[in-house]
Amino acid sequence: MKVRKAVILAAGMGTRMLPASKVIPKEILPVVDKPAIQVVVEEAVASGIEEIILVLSPGRTTVLQHFQSAPELERLLEQRLKHDLLDIVRHTNRLARFNTAHQHEPLGLGHAVLQAREAVGDEPFAVILPDDIFDGPRPCLRQLLDIAETEDAPVVALLRVPPSEISKYGIVAVKTVRPRLHQLIGMVEKPPLDQAPSDLAIMGRYVLTPDIFPLLAAGKPGAGGEIQLTDGLLALSARRKLYGYEFEGERYDLGDRVGFLTAQIGFGLKRPELADRLRAYLKTVLSS
Ligand code: UTP
Repeated sequence: MKVRKAVILAAGMGTRMLPASKVIPKEILPVVDKPAIQVVVEEAVASGIEEIILVLSPGRTTVLQHFQSAPELERLLEQRLKHDLLDIVRHTNRLARFNTAHQHEPLGLGHAVLQAREAVGDEPFAVILPDDIFDGPRPCLRQLLDIAETEDAPVVALLRVPPSEISKYGIVAVKTVRPRLHQLIGMVEKPPLDQAPSDLAIMGRYVLTPDIFPLLAAGKPGAGGEIQLTDGLLALSARRKLYGYEFEGERYDLGDRVGFLTAQIGFGLKRPELADRLRAYLKTVLSS
């Protein structure tokens, strides 16, 4: 299968990052100096995606604005001969082709994906949760697309999590095909530890087929009136082979305070112009 479009969900409330996310959508919060949403758009583009569909809550247009031109700022940078900065700003305007869909109320990931149905049409597509960001030898989405292409089937990203983390995620039951690759035969959203079918948790990257849309539309809202993506995936796995792939690389949860902080350090240490000062600072605090 050939995947051209990626749906990025950015219509949640971001309650775990309040008050930072009160006015600014949490997807605009930075990883060092780059908004999380740009980090994941770059991952999608590096993975071969041609069109980005942003699912936004109405009235929160900042996320889309970040990828549009800023004529005033560009003019000033040009006048002041700040060509490097001008390139950085213009890069964001030229990253990809964007389309939007709106989710009027944050009624869950499944509901958010459903809002992109028309924009996606009848073709396979990727889904990205922008608070999960990855750092590895190859973009996480590219790793999933390779599996989707060779197996001609939908696939989700998996990560082994420690027992204390199990009840935060969708946990899957699997039939292992080969190292890292599993067929999904069951899944439970946020199970108590003693009811978890494995320690493999679904992370925020998916390659899906459009037959998930009617399954999501038929899904009954669960707790809090939310339509869970996990329920749609479970229904999909009953109809066709659905895979999970343990991606290679590091994952940061930007929607969580500690994840947000570790991402700043992890990505900061990778920047040659920042690494020495950051490392020196970390040494001092850790030794005091
Ligand atoms: P999260 O569950 O991490 O985001 O969803 P949240 O609900 O905004 O955050 P908390 O838990 O209240 O702190 C992962 C991604 O899915 C989007 C969010 O914007 C986030 O990027 N999302 C979530 C939606 O677009 N719609 C929803 O109904 C829920």
